[in-house]
Amino acid sequence: MKPSRSYALLLLFVIATQSLISITTTSTAAATDDIVKDSKGKKVLNNVPYHIGPVIPAMGYHIKLTNTMDNKKICPFNVVQDPSDNLGGQFMFTLVGNFDDKYLHTSSILGIDSGYPKGECEESTFWTIPDVEEPPPSNLITTGGGFDKSFTCFQVVEYPTPTSPEVPSYMLQHCPSFCGAGPQTCFNISIYVDNGVRRLSSADATPFELVFYKVKETHDSM
Ligand SMILES: *[C@@H]1O[C@H](CO)[C@@H](O)[C@H](O)[C@H]1NC(C)=O
Repeated sequence: MKPSRSYALLLLFVIATQSLISITTTSTAAATDDIVKDSKGKKVLNNVPYHIGPVIPAMGYHIKLTNTMDNKKICPFNVVQDPSDNLGGQFMFTLVGNFDDKYLHTSSILGIDSGYPKGECEESTFWTIPDVEEPPPSNLITTGGGFDKSFTCFQVVEYPTPTSPEVPSYMLQHCPSFCGAGPQTCFNISIYVDNGVRRLSSADATPFELVFYKVKETHDSM
């Protein structure tokens, strides 16, 4: 009697563990397979320009670069949210060490590129946070960083409490140690109001909820 009963218990234990393992692996696979979607629910492409902005585009407040602060020309540029802009700049999200991947995935490491330098400012166009652990202006986002460096290392994460169930929304995190030496943690990207200008920064824990908007092209058939 005794041996068979403990055998049955062992069997039960094995089955329970097995199903637990399979549950865990399925959920991890689902998480790593999470492809970032644009405002229309289409897959967001790696290294292709998108506009980024709030959930309701008609409200304005899209993200763009500015070359002027306090009526003075600046270089590198600042990354700002403009209340009067319902289109914004175009930004490429470029996966680090994964050039063959066609789409962005949540939690994959990437650089954010504003494209070819325009005008006199010839600093690099990758978004960077000069010093994430220092107060503003050090932790405000500017252009001028190099690709695949700790200062320019970001990831896109699903927004935990989306405003609209129909619109896929995300937040950005700056994760220095994923690309090089730096703090072993990720910092939420939020809006910081700098002399009346809304700038992207790691200054605040409350993340900025953003949506990817496809750039309209006249010859576009997708
Ligand atoms: C980042 O934002 C999320 C969602 O609001 C929050 O739960 C988390 O605590 C924040 N993380 C940090 C490090 O501030």
